[in-house]
Amino acid sequence: MTSIKLARSDLFKNQAYVNGRWQNAPAAATFAVHDPATGELLAEVADLDAAATTQAVAAARQAFAHWSSITAKQRSEYLLAWYQLIMQHSDDLAMLITREQGKPLAEAKGEISYAASFVQWFAEEAKRAYGELIPSPWPGSRIQVLRQPIGVVASITPWNFPAAMITRKATPALAAGCPVVIKPSEETPLTALALAVLAEQAGLPAGVFNIVTSNQAAAVGEVLSTHPDVAMLSFTGSTAVGKLLMKQCASTVKKSAMELGGNAPFIVFDDADLDAAVDGLMQSKFRNTGQTCVCANRIFVQDAVYDNFANKLQARVSELKHGQGTADNVTLGPLINRGGLDKVSRLVDAAVQAGAECRWRADINGLDQQRYYPATLLTNVQTGMDITKEEIFGPVAALIRFSNEQEVIRAANDTRAGLAAYFYARDIGRIWRVQEALEYGIVGVNAGLFSTEVAPFGGVKESGHGREGSHHGMEEFLEIKYVLHAGLGE
Ligand code: SIN
Repeated sequence: MTSIKLARSDLFKNQAYVNGRWQNAPAAATFAVHDPATGELLAEVADLDAAATTQAVAAARQAFAHWSSITAKQRSEYLLAWYQLIMQHSDDLAMLITREQGKPLAEAKGEISYAASFVQWFAEEAKRAYGELIPSPWPGSRIQVLRQPIGVVASITPWNFPAAMITRKATPALAAGCPVVIKPSEETPLTALALAVLAEQAGLPAGVFNIVTSNQAAAVGEVLSTHPDVAMLSFTGSTAVGKLLMKQCASTVKKSAMELGGNAPFIVFDDADLDAAVDGLMQSKFRNTGQTCVCANRIFVQDAVYDNFANKLQARVSELKHGQGTADNVTLGPLINRGGLDKVSRLVDAAVQAGAECRWRADINGLDQQRYYPATLLTNVQTGMDITKEEIFGPVAALIRFSNEQEVIRAANDTRAGLAAYFYARDIGRIWRVQEALEYGIVGVNAGLFSTEVAPFGGVKESGHGREGSHHGMEEFLEIKYVLHAGLGE
């Protein structure tokens, strides 16, 4: 087993964290966590089963009474203490991300700041879960609206942002007064456990923040989506799994928030600032080696600027540097696993066979080709090819030519996904028309990166429902209670 060099070695944990205790799985079952860059074994982590998950739900349920009854200010203080510890140990946390997930260290550090920003933001929002007083239509009465914590929240989080997707879900829930049971991805449990070490140090009471590590996704997912004591399930992952979890949630009429797959269009109109568009595309497309739900997937470029844009983009793509995330100046890491790599290869090969041109492909000789996929620029891609219908989740830019606004809006919306869209243009009329016509939860106008704790992140159509971040992110975890006070006298 490789040891990960950390300034604070106790941040490396391989036991689950439930009810304020570090615990092994029943029969000491474990699953292996590997470095995607090398295949080295990093840890054998406790493999909790359905029964152990049920215990975590019970612990959270028990913690609910206390956690929801302390003051919002007290919850805020716990979160602020946790925020400070995360920032203090950001180098170690980033190293854990890079080793288990593969992203370059500089990006991993960026992710820790991003993750911490949710903790800080919701520490502040905790104090702002206001109620309302509504003018009553009846004499001698008042109408009150209370906002109360929904109850135990379960979260199933993905491997592409091992820290930020946990804090983006857990901290609004905690701020609202809800204990959480989190099942991190089996690919990246180590960052989640390190966050739990710091949550414990920040003094979060037992049962309030639980990490159920497990390789038994179906069994654990079933408990979290059907248990009557789980009030809400918040999931980020594939649309297929999200649909299954939603069906399971129906058995207890459980509220859910679903952040599912995307198929982001990135449109470059002929009046765009092309250099800015190339900058934006590089951010959107190649962040996390192309493995985000909001990565540009279909790049539509208008006729008149197509060749110029393709040339400028090729120059930038050829500057990308592949390698292990811990090495200097690396901008693209490995893909998360063999399944991910095979999918990207299949989509690119099929596109080229159907007539797409491979304009640029990085040279990755010297790297393990079973782990790294070369940065690739495809031109002459046609709508209808599989690469335009599935999420690529890899460092491949697929350029599609278009001629007019109506045509590109129709093509951009021609998908069941509706998470994020981007476009570059300068004409103000066009900007308004296009932003309103795009059927997406998030639109970047002349922007390639929009994620922030202060804005609502989430999709429409089969990209899911519910919003994360901003004050909307906290409302997800608050139930509305209408209270009528009558007989108060006139
Ligand atoms: C995601 O890929 O699901 C998250 C991306 C982001 O937060 O920017």
